[in-house]
Amino acid sequence: MSSESPYRMTLSLNVLNHLGLNLYSNVPSVLSEVVANAWDADAENVWITIDPTTDHEKIVIQDNGHGMTQQEVNERYLLVGYQRREHGSERTKKFNRLPMGRKGIGKLSLFSIARTIKVRTVKEGQRSAFRMNLDDIKQKIGGQEAGTYEPNPLPTDDIDFERGTQIVITDPKKRIHQAASALRTRLARRFSIIGSAHHFAVFIDDEEISHVDRDYYHKVQYLWTFGDENSLYEKLCAKAESIEKLYGLLDSGDEIRGWVGTAKESGQKLQDRHGDNLNRIVVLVRGKVAQEDILEEFGETGIFSSYLIGEVHADFLDADDQDDIATSSRQRIIEDDPRYEVLKAFIGKTLKKIQNEWTRLRNEEGSKRALEIPAINDWFKELNPDLRKDAKSLFGKINTLTETPDKKRELLRSGVLAFEHLNHKGKLKELDTVSEEKPGSGSTYFCRSGRHRGNFANSSRKCNSWIDVEKYLIRGIHAKAFSWSVV
Ligand SMILES: Nc1ncnc2c1ncn2[C@@H]1O[C@H](COP(=O)(O)OP(=O)(O)OP(=O)(O)O)[C@@H](O)[C@H]1O
Ligand SMILES: [Mg+2]
Repeated sequence: MSSESPYRMTLSLNVLNHLGLNLYSNVPSVLSEVVANAWDADAENVWITIDPTTDHEKIVIQDNGHGMTQQEVNERYLLVGYQRREHGSERTKKFNRLPMGRKGIGKLSLFSIARTIKVRTVKEGQRSAFRMNLDDIKQKIGGQEAGTYEPNPLPTDDIDFERGTQIVITDPKKRIHQAASALRTRLARRFSIIGSAHHFAVFIDDEEISHVDRDYYHKVQYLWTFGDENSLYEKLCAKAESIEKLYGLLDSGDEIRGWVGTAKESGQKLQDRHGDNLNRIVVLVRGKVAQEDILEEFGETGIFSSYLIGEVHADFLDADDQDDIATSSRQRIIEDDPRYEVLKAFIGKTLKKIQNEWTRLRNEEGSKRALEIPAINDWFKELNPDLRKDAKSLFGKINTLTETPDKKRELLRSGVLAFEHLNHKGKLKELDTVSEEKPGSGSTYFCRSGRHRGNFANSSRKCNSWIDVEKYLIRGIHAKAFSWSVV
């Protein structure tokens, strides 16, 4: 009956612009799509080779997966919106993997970074090769016709592999000479299934990517793990001073795996050598990043959250029998999806618990270090138990501020003076509001520049650093009473 309808819905090729052609701007995200396709094709190896030669810039990604027949190329690879989960089995044939692909648009992302893509693929001796060009596709789009795009066939006699798929990216939109080392780190962070445990090795310029390339585990000072992989994270976070296992059971009955850690450093200092921010908790689904930072969902959560790093595996977000939870930008999860709401609630609750524990650990550690200084120890012993708790909290804060022993001593000295002064005025609770951030209006600071004995008014002008007790020390009232040295 539908043929009798006077109405017709058609699709302009222009939708490609919204589905992938301009989706990503960065090379690691795009290459992740190709690596994910290799995983889905049961590849054991993926070799990425970068040729940064000007004028011939090119990236080659080759896998030894099952490849595609010419028919499969047309019916799967070249079909935008191919729904792989509607076809075939839930898991891959050879390695029983849970496929990452779902939308049938991953390959389009290649055009975000390059104009020409060559694909060569071999399956059961059948070779296929073709070239796709962005300008040709755009020309079709410009024609506003609901139509097909026909890639150019390429010769197949130069294909020198027996099985698998090779993608060659040329004519990059921007220079792609990004250092292989940064690419290695960024790719390593986007997947948890890279490595021998999963029969999946990814090489960049012949060097295999490993867990260690994520380059943040060594930053973890206190570690909390979920699920059954805690021994793996304990091993990776070899410098963790405290490890606690938590249950990863959500209210919905679903489970998560992974870890959350706090680093010694926060904010700006919590960056890697490529300048990437490490202060995030990434959500992975089926071994691939689905949301780069779930912390964003919690808005401004204060100082504590600026110390956090983590990886949360939430495979339940991508069950085959439920709707696709990823936005079409593929970089995020649909925010108000009830499954995601449950995860957010769980993470929020867990972070509160971790925060309490972190405060305790930090105060213990800070106190231990502070009390190694005899003068501080003597002062501390004189305090009544209630005040000791406040003093420990102060030591905890000071300890995380600097690693330099001299600066730490200086801060402790300022801190003790401020403590006494505030206590004297019955305003000790104000210490809780001491900011660890850069000075801003209305905050209470600790002074980093020493020389508090004597005239505080003079030293106050130097008190322009992140922590600053000037507000209390300027008045210098306690110079006499506390003019002892902690050195
Ligand atoms: N390296 C490969 N080896 C074999 N088949 C491949 C390869 N890359 C892609 N394909 C086939 O092409 C299809 C389309 O790939 P594409 O990345 O566009 O979508 P997808 O992986 O199905 O889903 P998603 O959009 O979520 O990535 C895949 O489902 C797969 O059948
Ligand atoms: Mg894909």
